[in-house]
Amino acid sequence: MTTLYNIAMIYVAAVRLRAIYVPLCCCLFALWPVVSAALSDSQRERMAERLAPVGALCVDGDACASQRVLVSRAPRSGADVYQMSCAACHGAGVSGAPRLSTRGDWTARLARGQDTLYDHAIEGFNAMPARGACPNCTDEEIRAAVDYMLDSLPAR
Ligand code: HEC
Repeated sequence: MTTLYNIAMIYVAAVRLRAIYVPLCCCLFALWPVVSAALSDSQRERMAERLAPVGALCVDGDACASQRVLVSRAPRSGADVYQMSCAACHGAGVSGAPRLSTRGDWTARLARGQDTLYDHAIEGFNAMPARGACPNCTDEEIRAAVDYMLDSLPAR
C-alpha cells in the first residue's frame, strides 16, 4: 500500500514541477529576442570572436596560402632517438640485437666498418627493422643514434 502511495506522491510532485517549469521555459524562450537585442555591438563582436573556428583551411591559390611557413624541426639527438626507438631492442638484446655498452656484441660488426652499420641501421638488416622502426627519423638522426650506441661502448 505504501508503495502505491509513494508512486502517487511522486506523480503529483512531477505534475506540480511541470506546472512551474514549462511556463518558465516558454517565457525565457519567448524573451530571447529581447535579451539578444539588448547585447551591445562590442558584446556581439566578442561573442563572434569566441565562436569563430580555431583555424582556417588554406588551399593552394588562396591568398592565405602564400603565407605558408614550412615547419622544420631541429634534428633529435642520438640519445633521444636511441631512447625513443632503439632501446626497446638494443637495451636487453632482443632477438640478438647488439646491446648498448656491451663491446663484445659489437666487435665483429665494427670489423665490417662503421658505414655498414649506418647502412644496416637505415635500410634494415635481418631482424633489425629499417630505421629501427622509426619511420620519421631522418638518416642523420639514425646515424646519430648509431654513434650514441658506439660511444657507449667501454674502451676495450
Ligand atoms: C625490433 C627490434 C629492434 C629495434 C627497434 C632496433 N633494432 Fe637495431 N638491431 C636489431 C637486431 C635483432 C639486430 C641484429 C641483426 C643481425 O645481426 O642479424 C640489430 C642490429 C643493429 C645494428 C648493427 C647492424 C650490423 O651491421 O651489424 C645497428 C647499427 C642497429 N641495429 C641500429 C639500430 C638503431 C640506430 C635503432 C633505433 C633507431 C635500432 N637499431 C632499433 C633489432 C632492433
